[in-house]
Amino acid sequence: GAPVEADISKVEPGMLLAIEWQGKPVWIVNRTPATLATLAKIGDKLVDPNSDVPQQPAYCKNTDRSIKPEYLVVVGICTHLGCSPTFRPELAPADLGPDWVGGWFCPCHGSRYDLAARVYKNVPAPMNMQVPPYKYLTATRIIVG
Ligand code: FES
Repeated sequence: GAPVEADISKVEPGMLLAIEWQGKPVWIVNRTPATLATLAKIGDKLVDPNSDVPQQPAYCKNTDRSIKPEYLVVVGICTHLGCSPTFRPELAPADLGPDWVGGWFCPCHGSRYDLAARVYKNVPAPMNMQVPPYKYLTATRIIVG
């Protein structure tokens, strides 16, 4: 498939922009400094906090899984059976429990991911959502693919 460009200039902190690449949803999320600080602290709750699984690009082998910390770029497909997880960036909503710090919740079988799309322990999904190949063309344009 052809690479796809995205203009991220209007993606405000906390927002998610969805684009499509190779027929798959790709999400670009502008994360706040508070979110980035949280991501650095929750590694013990996660299956693969530093994305050591080999098929991930080198630039996502860190706690925020991105080239620039504020922008996550990820393929929005649950690694269990391919459902589309729901974006739930809010802290501690009543239905997701007191330990929730924002992320994605998969409605199919309850897998949980943080705001770096890293999977929590003790859920059906075996690995983090995939970070696609991408790069910055300018400060506000990304190309995926
Ligand atoms: Fe997401 Fe099963 S497909 S938890």
